[in-house]
Amino acid sequence: MLDLIAASDGTTRRKLDLNCVPNSFLTVENLTVLRSSKKIIEGVGLKALPGTITAIVGPSGVGKSTFLKSINRILEIEAATHFLGDIKIEGVSIFDKNTDLRRLRRKVGMVFQKPTPSPVSIFKNIAIPLCDESPMSRADLDIAIEYNLSSVGLWEEVKDKLHSSALSLSGGQQQRLCMARAMSLSPSLMLLDEPCSSLDPMSTAIMEQLLLDLRSQTTMLIVTHNLAQAKRISDQTALFWPVNGVGKLVELSRTREFFGNPSSLEARSYVNGLSG
Ligand SMILES: Nc1ncnc2c1ncn2[C@@H]1O[C@H](COP(=O)(O)OP(=O)(O)O)[C@@H](O)[C@H]1O
Ligand SMILES: [Mg+2]
Repeated sequence: MLDLIAASDGTTRRKLDLNCVPNSFLTVENLTVLRSSKKIIEGVGLKALPGTITAIVGPSGVGKSTFLKSINRILEIEAATHFLGDIKIEGVSIFDKNTDLRRLRRKVGMVFQKPTPSPVSIFKNIAIPLCDESPMSRADLDIAIEYNLSSVGLWEEVKDKLHSSALSLSGGQQQRLCMARAMSLSPSLMLLDEPCSSLDPMSTAIMEQLLLDLRSQTTMLIVTHNLAQAKRISDQTALFWPVNGVGKLVELSRTREFFGNPSSLEARSYVNGLSG
């Protein structure tokens, strides 16, 4: 899976041979994304195994959010978008003409930098999306809500105020509620765009443990500016880098190697805090 390649500076570098990653859950092939006719990212290739966490790092404005929002095709809601290349989930292209976008967006959950609970009760935040597809009995709903709030460690904190506004919760609690809401739809893939950047260190630690615990249920991609966090929780790390004003994936390595012995000059300088 890892090849040794000769670099221009005479050193030998490792290269992850993407074609050899077995049973990949998510496969991104030569993806180029244009927003409003402007090329944002180009030639991105990435594979993720089921039940793994991929950290996506890189400087601001390099297209990390664009990449993430391409995977559940919510980018097209924001701006005129053109895609080249392919994104496959379990071998099926998300650009297939038969793709049901509503279903794709339910199955590929997303959590944003700023917690985005709906301005309704804690209970309804989960109940509304859950019942959207198929109505549930009140008893089943109660069980599902307790289960999902427990899975993010929130049940004990909110069980006596389920009908209070979700906006009355702290930032960390709101973010965990958003995770519970996304997880309640049993996503096969979770996209997390800097989910801890507005949280205090204690809430961040809780979120990180939660992501590690949820790994058995879903494959995750997390954009983070916190390199220590990427190192703690991810299996592989992808570095996006601006090349002539366009974002490119310049290194994809196992996280241990990315931080211990990165192969690209960009990753070496980014990991050492010299640029980016
Ligand atoms: N609607 C849009 N149309 C054209 N370009 C956009 C649009 N939204 C964002 N961009 C540009 O896309 C680039 C990448 O943005 P983004 O994906 O948010 O980067 P990152 O998440 O790495 O900070 C930025 O240069 C930004 O200006
Ligand atoms: Mg971003």
